Amino acid sequence: MTWVNTLTGPNTTTFQMPTIQVQPVGFALGARVTGVDLSKMLTSDEVQQIKAAWTKHLVLVFPGQQLDPATLTAFTTHFGELDNYDSQPFNRHPEHDHVMLLSNKPVNGKLPAGAYNGQNWHTDLSYTVRPAKATMVYCIEKPSVGGDTMFANMYAAYEALSPKMREFLDDLEAVNDVSLISARRDPAILEAFKRLNPPVVHPAVRIHPESGKPALYVNDRVRTFVGMSDLESKPIIKFLCEHSVQPRFVYRHRWEVRDLVLWDNRCLTHLAVGDYDPKEIRHMIRTSTMGDHYGRLENPQAAEASLKAAAATSQEVAAGVSALHD
Ligand SMILES: [Fe+2]
Repeated sequence: MTWVNTLTGPNTTTFQMPTIQVQPVGFALGARVTGVDLSKMLTSDEVQQIKAAWTKHLVLVFPGQQLDPATLTAFTTHFGELDNYDSQPFNRHPEHDHVMLLSNKPVNGKLPAGAYNGQNWHTDLSYTVRPAKATMVYCIEKPSVGGDTMFANMYAAYEALSPKMREFLDDLEAVNDVSLISARRDPAILEAFKRLNPPVVHPAVRIHPESGKPALYVNDRVRTFVGMSDLESKPIIKFLCEHSVQPRFVYRHRWEVRDLVLWDNRCLTHLAVGDYDPKEIRHMIRTSTMGDHYGRLENPQAAEASLKAAAATSQEVAAGVSALHD
Protein backbone atom coordinates (compact mmCIF):
# COMPACT_ATOMS: atom_id res chain seq x y z
CA MET A 1 0.00 0.00 0.00
CA THR A 2 1.42 3.37 -1.03
CA TRP A 3 0.43 6.39 0.98
CA VAL A 4 0.84 9.83 -0.57
CA ASN A 5 1.59 12.34 2.14
CA THR A 6 0.44 15.80 1.15
CA LEU A 7 1.54 18.49 3.56
CA THR A 8 -1.22 21.08 3.57
CA GLY A 9 -0.21 23.19 6.58
CA PRO A 10 2.02 23.25 9.65
CA ASN A 11 -0.12 20.83 11.64
CA THR A 12 -2.29 19.38 8.94
CA THR A 13 -1.31 16.30 7.03
CA THR A 14 -3.61 14.61 4.57
CA PHE A 15 -3.00 10.97 3.74
CA GLN A 16 -4.44 10.15 0.37
CA MET A 17 -5.00 6.46 -0.15
CA PRO A 18 -6.71 4.61 -2.93
CA THR A 19 -9.99 4.37 -1.06
CA ILE A 20 -9.67 5.75 2.44
CA GLN A 21 -8.84 9.35 3.33
CA VAL A 22 -7.72 10.39 6.81
CA GLN A 23 -7.87 14.08 7.69
CA PRO A 24 -6.79 15.29 11.15
CA VAL A 25 -9.46 17.34 12.90
CA GLY A 26 -7.50 18.27 16.03
CA PHE A 27 -3.85 18.90 16.83
CA ALA A 28 -3.86 16.76 19.97
CA LEU A 29 -5.94 13.92 18.59
CA GLY A 30 -8.80 13.10 16.24
CA ALA A 31 -9.16 12.45 12.53
CA ARG A 32 -12.01 12.25 10.05
CA VAL A 33 -12.08 9.14 7.90
CA THR A 34 -13.92 9.05 4.58
CA GLY A 35 -13.99 6.78 1.56
CA VAL A 36 -15.13 3.69 3.40
CA ASP A 37 -18.58 2.17 3.95
CA LEU A 38 -18.57 0.50 7.37
CA SER A 39 -21.83 -1.34 6.70
CA LYS A 40 -20.04 -3.48 4.10
CA MET A 41 -17.53 -6.29 4.56
CA LEU A 42 -14.14 -4.57 4.74
CA THR A 43 -11.00 -5.88 3.09
CA SER A 44 -8.07 -6.74 5.32
CA ASP A 45 -6.22 -3.86 3.69
CA GLU A 46 -8.98 -1.41 4.65
CA VAL A 47 -8.99 -2.73 8.21
CA GLN A 48 -5.22 -2.27 8.41
CA GLN A 49 -5.49 1.30 7.12
CA ILE A 50 -8.15 2.12 9.71
CA LYS A 51 -6.13 0.53 12.52
CA ALA A 52 -3.02 2.48 11.50
CA ALA A 53 -5.02 5.73 11.51
CA TRP A 54 -6.54 4.80 14.88
CA THR A 55 -3.12 4.20 16.46
CA LYS A 56 -1.93 7.54 15.11
CA HIS A 57 -4.97 9.73 15.85
CA LEU A 58 -6.64 7.88 18.80
CA VAL A 59 -10.14 9.11 17.81
CA LEU A 60 -11.59 8.44 14.36
CA VAL A 61 -14.78 10.04 13.05
CA PHE A 62 -16.53 8.28 10.17
CA PRO A 63 -19.26 10.64 8.93
CA GLY A 64 -22.35 9.65 6.95
CA GLN A 65 -22.38 5.96 7.84
CA GLN A 66 -25.52 3.85 7.57
CA LEU A 67 -25.27 1.40 10.46
CA ASP A 68 -27.59 -0.68 12.60
CA PRO A 69 -26.78 -2.76 15.69
CA ALA A 70 -25.75 -5.77 13.57
CA THR A 71 -23.40 -3.89 11.22
CA LEU A 72 -21.98 -1.86 14.10
CA THR A 73 -21.22 -5.10 15.91
CA ALA A 74 -19.62 -6.63 12.82
CA PHE A 75 -17.31 -3.63 12.42
CA THR A 76 -16.44 -3.67 16.11
CA THR A 77 -15.12 -7.23 15.97
CA HIS A 78 -12.20 -6.05 13.84
CA PHE A 79 -10.89 -4.40 17.01
CA GLY A 80 -11.01 -7.32 19.42
CA GLU A 81 -13.34 -9.42 21.51
CA LEU A 82 -16.79 -7.87 21.97
CA ASP A 83 -17.58 -6.74 25.49
CA ASN A 84 -20.90 -8.18 26.60
CA TYR A 85 -21.26 -5.44 29.23
CA ASP A 86 -21.65 -7.78 32.18
CA SER A 87 -20.44 -4.85 34.26
CA GLN A 88 -23.53 -2.80 33.48
CA PRO A 89 -26.64 -4.74 32.49
CA PHE A 90 -28.83 -1.66 32.76
CA ASN A 91 -28.97 -0.02 29.39
CA ARG A 92 -28.66 -2.70 26.72
CA HIS A 93 -30.29 -2.67 23.35
CA PRO A 94 -33.41 -4.85 23.75
CA GLU A 95 -32.45 -7.19 20.89
CA HIS A 96 -28.65 -6.93 20.83
CA ASP A 97 -26.90 -7.85 24.07
CA HIS A 98 -23.52 -6.42 23.02
CA VAL A 99 -24.99 -3.06 22.16
CA MET A 100 -25.47 -0.39 24.79
CA LEU A 101 -28.00 2.41 24.50
CA LEU A 102 -26.82 5.94 25.20
CA SER A 103 -30.17 7.58 25.03
CA ASN A 104 -32.59 9.88 26.75
CA LYS A 105 -35.43 8.66 24.52
CA PRO A 106 -38.19 7.50 26.88
CA VAL A 107 -39.06 3.80 26.88
CA ASN A 108 -42.61 3.11 28.03
CA GLY A 109 -42.70 6.69 29.27
CA LYS A 110 -39.58 6.27 31.40
CA LEU A 111 -36.06 7.62 31.08
CA PRO A 112 -33.60 4.82 30.15
CA ALA A 113 -30.74 3.97 32.49
CA GLY A 114 -28.16 5.07 29.91
CA ALA A 115 -29.41 8.63 29.73
CA TYR A 116 -26.77 11.19 30.69
CA ASN A 117 -23.99 8.61 31.03
CA GLY A 118 -20.35 9.62 31.09
CA GLN A 119 -20.53 13.26 32.08
CA ASN A 120 -17.22 13.27 33.92
CA TRP A 121 -13.76 12.51 32.50
CA HIS A 122 -13.17 8.78 32.28
CA THR A 123 -11.99 5.86 30.20
CA ASP A 124 -14.61 3.22 29.51
CA LEU A 125 -14.94 0.39 32.03
CA SER A 126 -11.87 1.42 34.06
CA TYR A 127 -13.86 0.18 37.07
CA THR A 128 -13.38 -3.40 35.83
CA VAL A 129 -10.26 -5.55 35.81
CA ARG A 130 -10.46 -5.66 32.03
CA PRO A 131 -11.28 -2.15 30.83
CA ALA A 132 -12.38 -1.41 27.31
CA LYS A 133 -9.92 -1.25 24.45
CA ALA A 134 -11.98 0.27 21.63
CA THR A 135 -15.33 2.02 21.99
CA MET A 136 -17.59 2.86 19.06
CA VAL A 137 -20.59 5.14 19.23
CA TYR A 138 -23.05 5.68 16.39
CA CYS A 139 -25.28 8.74 16.40
CA ILE A 140 -28.92 8.15 15.47
CA GLU A 141 -30.51 11.32 16.85
CA LYS A 142 -28.96 14.43 18.32
CA PRO A 143 -30.13 17.61 19.99
CA SER A 144 -30.30 20.76 17.86
CA VAL A 145 -27.29 22.14 19.75
CA GLY A 146 -24.88 20.66 22.30
CA GLY A 147 -24.42 17.09 23.45
CA ASP A 148 -20.82 17.00 22.22
CA THR A 149 -18.17 14.53 23.36
CA MET A 150 -14.69 15.71 24.41
CA PHE A 151 -11.53 13.61 24.23
CA ALA A 152 -8.14 14.26 25.90
CA ASN A 153 -4.84 12.78 24.74
CA MET A 154 -3.26 11.08 27.75
CA TYR A 155 0.06 10.47 25.99
CA ALA A 156 0.39 14.23 25.62
CA ALA A 157 -0.75 14.86 29.19
CA TYR A 158 1.88 12.44 30.50
CA GLU A 159 4.66 13.85 28.32
CA ALA A 160 3.90 17.39 29.52
CA LEU A 161 4.59 16.48 33.16
CA SER A 162 7.98 17.14 34.73
CA PRO A 163 10.45 14.23 34.75
CA LYS A 164 10.17 14.02 38.56
CA MET A 165 6.39 13.78 38.45
CA ARG A 166 6.53 11.16 35.70
CA GLU A 167 9.03 9.14 37.76
CA PHE A 168 6.71 9.35 40.78
CA LEU A 169 3.67 8.25 38.75
CA ASP A 170 5.42 5.43 36.93
CA ASP A 171 5.43 3.27 40.09
CA LEU A 172 2.01 4.28 41.31
CA GLU A 173 -1.23 2.30 41.26
CA ALA A 174 -4.63 3.95 41.34
CA VAL A 175 -7.93 2.72 42.78
CA ASN A 176 -10.71 3.11 40.22
CA ASP A 177 -14.11 3.36 41.84
CA VAL A 178 -17.42 2.99 40.03
CA SER A 179 -19.17 5.10 42.65
CA LEU A 180 -17.42 8.09 41.07
CA ILE A 181 -19.28 7.78 37.80
CA SER A 182 -21.52 10.60 36.75
CA ALA A 183 -23.84 11.63 39.58
CA ARG A 184 -27.03 11.81 37.50
CA ARG A 185 -27.82 8.10 37.91
CA ASP A 186 -30.82 6.70 39.63
CA PRO A 187 -29.70 5.83 43.21
CA ALA A 188 -30.99 2.24 43.00
CA ILE A 189 -29.09 1.64 39.77
CA LEU A 190 -25.95 3.20 41.22
CA GLU A 191 -26.12 0.85 44.23
CA ALA A 192 -26.51 -2.17 41.94
CA PHE A 193 -23.66 -0.86 39.80
CA LYS A 194 -21.39 -0.65 42.86
CA ARG A 195 -22.20 -4.20 43.98
CA LEU A 196 -21.38 -5.52 40.52
CA ASN A 197 -18.15 -3.55 40.24
CA PRO A 198 -16.10 -3.48 43.44
CA PRO A 199 -13.09 -1.10 43.32
CA VAL A 200 -10.16 -2.16 41.14
CA VAL A 201 -6.51 -1.19 40.93
CA HIS A 202 -4.77 -0.13 37.73
CA PRO A 203 -1.37 1.43 37.07
CA ALA A 204 -1.43 5.22 37.09
CA VAL A 205 0.55 5.09 33.85
CA ARG A 206 -0.14 2.54 31.12
CA ILE A 207 2.18 1.45 28.37
CA HIS A 208 0.11 1.18 25.22
CA PRO A 209 0.57 -2.34 23.82
CA GLU A 210 0.66 -1.17 20.20
CA SER A 211 2.37 2.22 20.25
CA GLY A 212 4.69 1.29 23.15
CA LYS A 213 4.19 4.80 24.58
CA PRO A 214 3.24 5.67 28.19
CA ALA A 215 -0.13 7.28 28.82
CA LEU A 216 -1.54 8.74 32.03
CA TYR A 217 -4.35 6.55 33.37
CA VAL A 218 -5.82 8.82 36.05
CA ASN A 219 -9.18 10.50 35.68
CA ASP A 220 -12.26 11.63 37.61
CA ARG A 221 -13.09 8.04 38.59
CA VAL A 222 -9.85 7.47 40.53
CA ARG A 223 -10.46 7.56 44.29
CA THR A 224 -6.98 7.18 45.76
CA PHE A 225 -3.48 5.79 45.18
CA VAL A 226 -2.35 2.47 46.61
CA GLY A 227 -0.07 2.92 49.64
CA MET A 228 -1.05 6.54 50.14
CA SER A 229 -3.75 8.07 52.31
CA ASP A 230 -6.78 9.71 50.74
CA LEU A 231 -5.54 13.02 52.16
CA GLU A 232 -2.25 12.60 50.31
CA SER A 233 -3.84 11.26 47.13
CA LYS A 234 -6.65 13.75 46.57
CA PRO A 235 -4.55 16.85 45.72
CA ILE A 236 -2.46 14.82 43.26
CA ILE A 237 -5.54 13.32 41.62
CA LYS A 238 -7.09 16.79 41.38
CA PHE A 239 -3.92 18.17 39.80
CA LEU A 240 -3.67 15.33 37.29
CA CYS A 241 -7.35 15.54 36.34
CA GLU A 242 -7.08 19.27 35.73
CA HIS A 243 -3.72 19.00 33.99
CA SER A 244 -4.79 16.24 31.61
CA VAL A 245 -7.85 17.96 30.19
CA GLN A 246 -6.37 21.32 29.32
CA PRO A 247 -7.70 22.57 25.97
CA ARG A 248 -4.34 21.91 24.30
CA PHE A 249 -4.81 18.16 24.87
CA VAL A 250 -8.48 18.06 23.84
CA TYR A 251 -10.56 17.44 20.72
CA ARG A 252 -14.26 18.28 21.00
CA HIS A 253 -16.53 16.35 18.69
CA ARG A 254 -19.74 18.00 17.57
CA TRP A 255 -21.95 15.11 16.55
CA GLU A 256 -23.83 14.79 13.30
CA VAL A 257 -26.46 12.14 12.73
CA ARG A 258 -24.83 9.03 11.14
CA ASP A 259 -21.40 9.74 12.63
CA LEU A 260 -19.59 6.66 13.87
CA VAL A 261 -16.83 7.60 16.30
CA LEU A 262 -14.19 5.09 17.34
CA TRP A 263 -11.75 5.78 20.18
CA ASP A 264 -8.94 4.14 22.11
CA ASN A 265 -9.58 3.95 25.86
CA ARG A 266 -5.99 3.00 26.60
CA CYS A 267 -4.56 6.43 25.85
CA LEU A 268 -7.34 8.98 26.20
CA THR A 269 -10.09 10.13 28.50
CA HIS A 270 -13.43 11.44 27.37
CA LEU A 271 -16.54 13.14 28.62
CA ALA A 272 -20.10 13.54 27.35
CA VAL A 273 -20.95 17.20 27.62
CA GLY A 274 -24.35 17.65 29.22
CA ASP A 275 -25.04 20.98 27.58
CA TYR A 276 -28.26 20.28 25.74
CA ASP A 277 -31.96 20.68 26.21
CA PRO A 278 -33.19 17.54 28.04
CA LYS A 279 -36.46 17.83 26.13
CA GLU A 280 -34.52 17.07 22.95
CA ILE A 281 -33.44 13.55 22.06
CA ARG A 282 -29.81 12.38 22.10
CA HIS A 283 -29.92 8.78 20.95
CA MET A 284 -26.80 6.73 20.22
CA ILE A 285 -25.72 3.10 20.28
CA ARG A 286 -22.39 1.88 21.57
CA THR A 287 -20.18 -1.19 21.40
CA SER A 288 -16.80 -1.91 23.02
CA THR A 289 -14.05 -4.48 22.82
CA MET A 290 -12.33 -6.06 25.79
CA GLY A 291 -8.89 -4.75 26.66
CA ASP A 292 -6.04 -6.58 28.35
CA HIS A 293 -6.74 -8.28 31.66
CA TYR A 294 -4.28 -6.39 33.82
CA GLY A 295 -6.26 -4.84 36.68
CA ARG A 296 -6.84 -6.41 40.10
CA LEU A 297 -9.44 -6.08 42.81
CA GLU A 298 -8.56 -3.60 45.54
CA ASN A 299 -9.95 -5.85 48.26
CA PRO A 300 -10.66 -9.40 47.01
CA GLN A 301 -12.59 -10.47 50.15
CA ALA A 302 -14.88 -7.46 50.12
CA ALA A 303 -15.26 -7.86 46.37
CA GLU A 304 -16.39 -11.47 46.74
CA ALA A 305 -19.07 -10.42 49.22
CA SER A 306 -20.12 -7.60 46.95
CA LEU A 307 -20.43 -9.86 43.92
CA LYS A 308 -22.44 -12.41 45.93
CA ALA A 309 -24.79 -9.63 46.94
CA ALA A 310 -25.03 -8.56 43.31
CA ALA A 311 -25.95 -12.10 42.25
CA ALA A 312 -28.54 -12.33 45.00
CA THR A 313 -30.08 -9.08 43.93
CA SER A 314 -29.98 -9.56 40.19
CA GLN A 315 -33.76 -9.51 40.15
CA GLU A 316 -33.62 -6.32 42.12
CA VAL A 317 -31.40 -4.88 39.39
CA ALA A 318 -33.93 -5.80 36.75
CA ALA A 319 -36.66 -4.32 38.87
CA GLY A 320 -34.54 -1.21 39.35
CA VAL A 321 -34.34 -0.70 35.63
CA SER A 322 -38.08 -0.78 35.27
CA ALA A 323 -38.51 1.46 38.27
CA LEU A 324 -36.50 4.32 36.82
CA HIS A 325 -37.98 7.74 37.24
CA ASP A 326 -39.71 9.45 34.36
FE1 LIG B 1 -17.55 6.66 28.11
